[in-house]
Amino acid sequence: MLVIKAGGSAITYKSRPYTANKEAMRNLATQLAGLDEQVILIHGVGSFAHPPAKQYRIDLGSDGTHERIYGLAVTHFRAGELAQMLIGVLIDAGLATLYCRASSLFVTRQRRIATFYREPVERYLDLGLIPVLHGDGPVDRGQGFCVLSGDQIAVDLARRFRARKVIFCMDVPGILREGRVIDHLRFGQIDDLYRHIADNHDASGGLMAKLLEIRTLQPAGIPAQLVTLQNDTDLVAAARNQTIGTLID
Ligand SMILES: Nc1ncnc2c1ncn2[C@@H]1O[C@H](COP(=O)(O)OP(=O)(O)OP(=O)(O)O)[C@@H](O)[C@H]1O
Ligand SMILES: [Mg+2]
Repeated sequence: MLVIKAGGSAITYKSRPYTANKEAMRNLATQLAGLDEQVILIHGVGSFAHPPAKQYRIDLGSDGTHERIYGLAVTHFRAGELAQMLIGVLIDAGLATLYCRASSLFVTRQRRIATFYREPVERYLDLGLIPVLHGDGPVDRGQGFCVLSGDQIAVDLARRFRARKVIFCMDVPGILREGRVIDHLRFGQIDDLYRHIADNHDASGGLMAKLLEIRTLQPAGIPAQLVTLQNDTDLVAAARNQTIGTLID
């Protein structure tokens, strides 16, 4: 079983609000069609839900105002729009992908996943479907609601379903250092990397937050590989354990 996270940086143009990258979506479709194993697909919400999440400060949770909860509603709606767009492309490619709304399956406490309703995802998988989830705004037991990143969902599901690997697709060919892709990293080397990463300040923390999530895979011994979705080869290569992008283990 593989967990694949199609980043918002890959499937949207993050600097252009509400703009999808259809070519990257088709690259994902082509490559998913070539995989012969169970897959859970997570996607980022990129330029669809990060702008309203940021504008309305969804990350802070409830403050009792109508504006804040309206912002949550708008953010949910925009994320759903992107999901429909992506799943439309996957459906057109003949893939049995099925939308599972993360905010209806997860509850968080202090912005970390506390509860997961497992049965729908497990059963859809057993039926041969590819469940599709995305970063979302679930209820949070402390602050009312929060931003739950697709990255946190991906590593959480990888542990729960004992995935053999998590593949993160982005708009860059891997983790870059001085313009070059780092092909291999140990979990223990993640901390040294932070000063080489430019934070892009999106609503879910950018690459830095992604690396923090990846580090939580270490005890389970699940490797992560970061590749680009700008071609129709690198994701499949990572699934076949070839040297591509950045492998973290
Ligand atoms: N050293 C680095 N190596 C690779 N990418 C970097 C580096 N520093 C900053 N980045 C940026 O981090 C981005 C990936 O993180 P980001 O959170 O923006 O994407 P994502 O997780 O794919 O999107 P989303 O959060 O919407 O799912 C890349 O698009 C790149 O611009
Ligand atoms: Mg991100």
